Amino acid sequence: MIIAIDGPAASGKGTLAKRIAQHWGLPCLDTGLLYRAVARDVTMRGFKLTDAWAALAQARSLDPSTLDDPLLRGPGTGEAASIVASMAHVRAALLAYQKAFAAQPGGAVLDGRDIGTVVCPHADAKIFVTARPEVRAERRFSERRAQSDPVTFEAVLADIQRRDARDAGRESAPMRPALDADLLETSDLDIEQAFEAAVGLIKRKIGR
Ligand code: CDP
Repeated sequence: MIIAIDGPAASGKGTLAKRIAQHWGLPCLDTGLLYRAVARDVTMRGFKLTDAWAALAQARSLDPSTLDDPLLRGPGTGEAASIVASMAHVRAALLAYQKAFAAQPGGAVLDGRDIGTVVCPHADAKIFVTARPEVRAERRFSERRAQSDPVTFEAVLADIQRRDARDAGRESAPMRPALDADLLETSDLDIEQAFEAAVGLIKRKIGR
């Protein structure tokens, strides 16, 4: 069984995907980490994020064993990831790995922006997780404050809005719900309620 979870920045799709994967005993891939890792590798080697050749080279030589690097979740990496993620050839270079992950026996849960539309168009269940930008910014702001990051709420909100606009506006695999995706609006739900709602939607789709 393949489950696709998509949605904008800080929508809670990552947490949701992990809970869903645990529930059905499936492996889970946070595909945002792939783009974050490419951005990390490009800057680590002294190239600009806008250097299309450097980004392609790093995407082609990406080592998936480095995806648990805590740096990938650090401030600024989301924005950097979204810059390399707007390049069609970078996305193409990362596609085979994602498709192979989804194709493993028993299936998988993947979360990102284009899982339901491009990576797994034949997924058994697709959920597009949304929440109002202010609510998403509040969640990300609390996370970062808990890590002693002196960021302001306004800066987090601006980052989220800029990233959403870039992700939804790019030509290659723009962020959007697949036509057959279920929308899950979580602005007024806590994680437990969002999880219960997602399980309900998936069960209805897979008929068990
Ligand atoms: O956790 P958060 O929602 O902030 O971001 P993420 O899921 O880790 O994704 C970081 C960036 O990677 C996004 O802003 C997208 O530009 C890009 N991304 C993408 O283009 N396609 C995916 N399937 C996953 C992430």
